[in-house]
Amino acid sequence: MSSYTRVALVTGANKGIGFAIARDLCREFPGDVVLTARDEARGRAAVQQLQAEGLSPRFHQLDIDDLQSIRAARDFLRKEYGGLNVLVNNAGIAFQTDDPTPFDIQAEVTLKTNFFATRNVCNELLPIVKPHGRVVNVSSSQGSQALENCSEDLQEKFRCETLTEEDLVDLMKKFVEDTKNEVHEREGWPSSAYGVSKLGVTVLSRILARRLEEKRKADRILLNACCPGWVKTDLGGAHASRTVEEGAETPVYLALLPPDATEPHGQLVCDKVVQNW
Ligand SMILES: NC(=O)c1ccc[n+]([C@@H]2O[C@H](COP(=O)([O-])OP(=O)(O)OC[C@H]3O[C@@H](n4cnc5c(N)ncnc54)[C@H](OP(=O)(O)O)[C@@H]3O)[C@@H](O)[C@H]2O)c1
Repeated sequence: MSSYTRVALVTGANKGIGFAIARDLCREFPGDVVLTARDEARGRAAVQQLQAEGLSPRFHQLDIDDLQSIRAARDFLRKEYGGLNVLVNNAGIAFQTDDPTPFDIQAEVTLKTNFFATRNVCNELLPIVKPHGRVVNVSSSQGSQALENCSEDLQEKFRCETLTEEDLVDLMKKFVEDTKNEVHEREGWPSSAYGVSKLGVTVLSRILARRLEEKRKADRILLNACCPGWVKTDLGGAHASRTVEEGAETPVYLALLPPDATEPHGQLVCDKVVQNW
């Protein structure tokens, strides 16, 4: 048996759903919880807030847009814990609906963080996830909506069980490129940059889960995407129906799946229920 303390890491945990996930994990996860944030001051303030509640998260800076920052977090986890037991990819962004930023810029910026940066975190941290580890990618049912609004040709590609990570990356790049050339609708894409970015996260989760199944089956790692529901946060807005505590429920459920669990794996989970894809 390893002598290392178990460890869970949450990205974008200084506020919103990520903060609520970190709080729940501090209460329920048998090990250390690393609250990460791109901004050190905001992250440390969040840690202090949890400390005031009698909880003991650790802090590590992590800007998922910055590969060096991801690698520094990976090195920290390797050195202090010999790896990672639970990874919650929560960090994400969305432009507000009335934001005047041109659509192609919104597409580029949103996909950069929500899809490409989340993928970088997965690629850097998955190799150090320990046996029985749990990986939760916070996606959105808006990704499913975006899939429904894609052309039949694109839907078929995204649903294809043999789509590779490289194919998916090419499709996500094509979406951004198509918005720049103002041909995205003609090319079968929906007009939601956020939706396409989360479609990418859900499909990426399916691909990575499949790869774990092929390459590390004996490790019994479970990796899933989830939707937290519509949650009152800076991103979700004040009219959203759920509190951050409610939004954290499904991600935390997936993060704490018991060691003998064999499913869900590679699924999109909403309200603790696997969704049809
Ligand atoms: N709220 C909803 O209704 C809803 C619904 C479905 C899915 N989601 C998803 O749930 C997740 C959390 O959203 P939320 O509603 O809690 O939003 P939020 O309150 O705006 O929080 C987003 C968090 O992500 C962080 N973040 C953004 N870019 C980052 C980066 N490059 N590196 C590290 N951290 C970064 C933010 O940090 P800063 O404070 O530094 O900006 C913040 O901590 C997102 O993935 C979102 O897409 C939300």
